[in-house]
Amino acid sequence: MERLRLCSRVLLLALTNFLISEVHSSATFTIVNKCEFTVWPGILSNAGIAPLPTTGFALQKGETKTMAAPSSWGGRFWGRTHCSEDSAGKFSCVTGDCGSGKLECSGGGASPPATLAEFKIDGDGGKDFYDVSLVDGYNLPMLVVPQGGSGDNCTTTGCVVDMNGACPSELRVTGVGGERVACKSACEAFGKEQFCCSGAYGTPDSCKPSTYSQMFKSACPLAYSYAYDDKSSTFTCTGADYLITFCPSPSASQKSSSDGQGPESGSDESNTSPFDNSSMVYEGALEVSAAPSTCIDVVRGQAVAVAVAITAAMWRLPQPF
Ligand SMILES: *[C@@H]1O[C@H](CO)[C@@H](O)[C@H](O)[C@H]1NC(C)=O
Ligand SMILES: *[C@@H]1O[C@H](CO)[C@@H](O)[C@H](O)[C@H]1NC(C)=O
Repeated sequence: MERLRLCSRVLLLALTNFLISEVHSSATFTIVNKCEFTVWPGILSNAGIAPLPTTGFALQKGETKTMAAPSSWGGRFWGRTHCSEDSAGKFSCVTGDCGSGKLECSGGGASPPATLAEFKIDGDGGKDFYDVSLVDGYNLPMLVVPQGGSGDNCTTTGCVVDMNGACPSELRVTGVGGERVACKSACEAFGKEQFCCSGAYGTPDSCKPSTYSQMFKSACPLAYSYAYDDKSSTFTCTGADYLITFCPSPSASQKSSSDGQGPESGSDESNTSPFDNSSMVYEGALEVSAAPSTCIDVVRGQAVAVAVAITAAMWRLPQPF
């Protein structure tokens, strides 16, 4: 009897753990437009990953849109600006255009320069990886705030500064009225290997920050400023949802970014990781496969109890809404 009880406990542990990882591996994205103008977000899934239900839409000033991404989703969000439809019905944008000629990007990526928010949900070690990137230039301030996740650097990232105003003339992109609408990366502006980290400069050792990438970095320390800026620009969370804000208000966002920076260099580096416990459960899962056939009888006998327990466990789990 003792053995049967252990057996069912092991099964239950394994099943519950499985369900927890299933629930946590998807994520909800909430996109907010705090700009004083309309932004047309674009979404591109990574190669081989199915598109989200929408790949492009209009977000009026003050508007919010929420969408669920399935487990293991990876891709990028950006904002298109100064968009319009011409007399022939072709949709295009002055910045971040995705070339589809329509509101939906349908597999088209952002034409640089554009600020990007990049995600890989449920990547290495079950962690979500995310960053805000200026590698392809800048067009809008963006902030990514993880909600309800955990991890050593599960913190706010983004670029809250108006880099259009601060953009040096050789990188500047202007609209029809001469207003500054975007700021190119040095790679985009000059096409040189040393700025693009390509050719002879195609490794982290050979491609160093340039005065241009350093300008982006000092304005937005948490964002990617050049291709090999990973260490200071990639963040990770487990089980988080994400709030993506265009034009976060300067005071609130500056507070958020310094909040985000603080703990990383401090005590959060300690190894109180949840992996100790999850590896315990995984050992349990291994026991299952090695368990004697009496476990099968336990499953039959206690199927109802297990199902009830699983349902209860699911209801108790934090829901991603
Ligand atoms: C966040 O943690 C990952 C490892 O999980 C590390 O590679 C990365 O450099 C860290 N990012 C920051 C900004 O500290
Ligand atoms: C892991 O288990 C220990 C006891 O073994 C407990 O004190 C700790 O809070 C657990 N950590 C998590 C993240 O569940």
